[in-house]
Amino acid sequence: MHVLAPAKINLHLRVGPPRQDGFHPLLSWMVTVGLFDTLSIERALAASDTLSCDDPALAVDNTNLVLRAVALLRQEIEARGSGAPDAARTVPKDDPVGKVKISLAKRIPTGSGLGGGSSDGARTLVALDRLWSTGLGAERLSALAARLGSDLPFFIEGRSAICAGRGERVVPIAPPAPKAVVLVLPGFHLSTPAVYREFDRQQLGCRSSLEPDAIDWGQWQSLRAEALLQQLVNDLEPAAFALEPQLGKMRTLAERLLGRTVRMSGSGSALFTLYDTLEEATAAIIVLREALRVRMEAVPVAPQYEED
Ligand code: C5P
Repeated sequence: MHVLAPAKINLHLRVGPPRQDGFHPLLSWMVTVGLFDTLSIERALAASDTLSCDDPALAVDNTNLVLRAVALLRQEIEARGSGAPDAARTVPKDDPVGKVKISLAKRIPTGSGLGGGSSDGARTLVALDRLWSTGLGAERLSALAARLGSDLPFFIEGRSAICAGRGERVVPIAPPAPKAVVLVLPGFHLSTPAVYREFDRQQLGCRSSLEPDAIDWGQWQSLRAEALLQQLVNDLEPAAFALEPQLGKMRTLAERLLGRTVRMSGSGSALFTLYDTLEEATAAIIVLREALRVRMEAVPVAPQYEED
């Protein structure tokens, strides 16, 4: 089974002051973008689930969201006694669905605010739900996903959604009009908890409503790239730029060279800007290349793709 795990960007991200549980209430318009990790999943006659990755820097032990997703879904199946085991297998009672071997081809940089780890975890849940015929349904899967991290439920639901709560309340909406995004990937990581800590230290919490209906998304959906960019905010930017001043400088330079708004995704370090067409986005990378000298991608917004 080959499964694509797309990256996301937070087009718009408002963040309130911390809640009692330490998490921050959010209001975000999230969309997938055409940059993918690939998961290859097969059944294995082994003592344990295994994960390998073509990026040696990535931990492939039980802390990885892919293996945590496998363990959580297996636990859920065992608790319910559900799941349709492979008929050809002799099924041990204590292991109804067997073990899996997963290899991960990593293209989404980690610690970049593009949700790579969350997407890998969420797509693993969706893939195993199919492989093991659990019949859990999207709502239950989404609840399981939320237990693994705030961004995972979005990747269960799909391509474009308003996310609220700590990220787990997901309301799908149509994608925006702009078809393409330029991603600037500076190559350094930003730690999400560290960015939130700095956000709290600077008391940056947004005081306006963070309910999904606080914004007329229908109107925003119809805006062309330059007009939409002017509406977009990311409340985590000042905190991230305080921790990594280089990133703020890079954003200012990119905005000057392109003559348009450049935003940060999530808690950084990825920056992005939108274009109405992929041709324009590709041309923008040529303008930035010499000055920024970092990895950049021009990719579709909310791509549709086939999986096998
Ligand atoms: O849920 P996730 O594992 O992605 O969160 C990582 C960290 O980011 C949390 O431990 C918390 O410090 C911070 N966070 C937050 N509020 C959110 C989402 C994440 O404070 N809504």
